[in-house]
Amino acid sequence: MTTATKQQSTKATSAPRTLMLIDGAWVESAKAEFLPVENPANRQVIAEVPRGRDEDVDRAVQSAARAFEKWKRVAPRERGKLLLKIADEVEAQSEALALLIATETGNALRTQSRPEAKSAADMLRYFGGLASELKGETVPLGEQVLSYTRREPIGVVGGIIPWNSPVILGALKIAMSITAGNTLVLKAAEDAPLAVLMMAKICAAHLPPGVLNVLTGYGEECGAPLARHPLVRKLSFTGSTEVGKLIMHAAADRIVPVSLELGGKSPIIVFPDADNDKTVDGVISGMRFTRQGQSCTAGSRLFLHRSIFDSLLGKLADKLSALKIGDPTDEATDMGAIINRKQFERVCSYIEDGLHQQGARLLLGGLPPREGPLAQGYFVEPTVFAEVRNEWRIAREEIFGPVLVAIPWEDEEEAVRMANDSHYGLAAYVWTHDIGKGLRTAHAIESGWIQINQGIGQSPGHSYGGFKQSGIGREFSLEGMLDSFTQRKSVTVNLEY
Ligand code: NAI
Ligand code: MG
Repeated sequence: MTTATKQQSTKATSAPRTLMLIDGAWVESAKAEFLPVENPANRQVIAEVPRGRDEDVDRAVQSAARAFEKWKRVAPRERGKLLLKIADEVEAQSEALALLIATETGNALRTQSRPEAKSAADMLRYFGGLASELKGETVPLGEQVLSYTRREPIGVVGGIIPWNSPVILGALKIAMSITAGNTLVLKAAEDAPLAVLMMAKICAAHLPPGVLNVLTGYGEECGAPLARHPLVRKLSFTGSTEVGKLIMHAAADRIVPVSLELGGKSPIIVFPDADNDKTVDGVISGMRFTRQGQSCTAGSRLFLHRSIFDSLLGKLADKLSALKIGDPTDEATDMGAIINRKQFERVCSYIEDGLHQQGARLLLGGLPPREGPLAQGYFVEPTVFAEVRNEWRIAREEIFGPVLVAIPWEDEEEAVRMANDSHYGLAAYVWTHDIGKGLRTAHAIESGWIQINQGIGQSPGHSYGGFKQSGIGREFSLEGMLDSFTQRKSVTVNLEY
């Protein structure tokens, strides 16, 4: 956390205050301090939330630990039924949630925030319906022995989420933890806590106190003490690789299981037969341009076969220049603003780097306008650099902005080698009509999720997670919940006693 942000938080504002959820009650932090939440599209402070610290974390974790003793004994299908009710209500309130997401994150309502709010309901419903699948096995050790396993909840889960899709990730951690019989202390991202708190309000109306606690605060002040708390038995983190490493260290100190969903620099490989409009639409969607590229799965390295390099980039530039950037709450807007000043400056510094990189060709976009309506907020236009080399900084580091690099290739092996030459391995995209080539490439790429001929977002049901430094563990699916949010116990009975 920069000092600039911390100083900002001590300034008094007249913005409305939204409280956090501890032990079934809506509370301030123990020190009664607040932090501001800004609308990145116009830099106005829209609300203040509590600036939680150690003592608040401790209260929340103690509450979750008490609640666990009863919650773990609630029959799974009863827990699932509550999740289904919550899902219905999240769906009923999805428009208000969507507006809140758009206002605090800068993500456009039509293209991002509304689909996100709806998917959150879907996520809660998916896991709620799976409650009775928390099954164990019997082990055939012979007629004289009964040996079976149980899937038991782990205890208090510490969940930490980022700001880029706060409600869907919040819903995911809530659904997986609580369905499996754990209790949860969820730390919202300081930049996007409001819609998560609104969803928490819906949850709290259906859950016993302490089963879900939601804290607001800065990473080092509130996230770090949660990761370190001795009563937290499982950590589930989504965010940067840098912080992911700290979380894993904290987990190592107490030997608690950890799921990490971290960054990416995912490749899109386009074969010569795929030089068409559908591919271009898929590249735009895979790169998450309409979320300003702020996605862990963004396909931000575009590997184009030399024979179609200029032709496909020409089509891409045409479509990207037609995207409407501006007010996230306007129905006509395709693409909103970057989350905050720090990220905005970071993205700009990568663009600067690309502009100074000898050999790189700016195809579209560039540094953001300093005047006019877009200068009111943290807006960056879709930016594409062509003739990029895979070893340059703009091709290696996660930019987390609408900046795509296009890299030419000539043979398939070379394309795969470059795609895999990254410390990340979260997602990948392959475009070709040749099914053999497509599958061969998918199998050769070191990533947790490969899409062939599409570039959509995650759906509940498929185990999602990264290879290499993109993370460990899988979430989003039944198997993910079973493996990451329960622990197996074996019971062996001698029937001849
Ligand atoms: P971050 O990783 O710092 O923040 C994510 C969450 O972790 C927030 O709730 C934050 O408060 C918390 N956190 C921060 N420091 C912590 C600590 N020491 N202990 C415990 N919790 C802590 O991400 P940030 O700073 O917002 O973005 C930086 C970069 O991270 C982005 O440019 C992007 O590359 C990557 N990122 C990746 C995301 C993903 O979905 N995989 C999401 C957000 C960021
Ligand atoms: Mg950070």
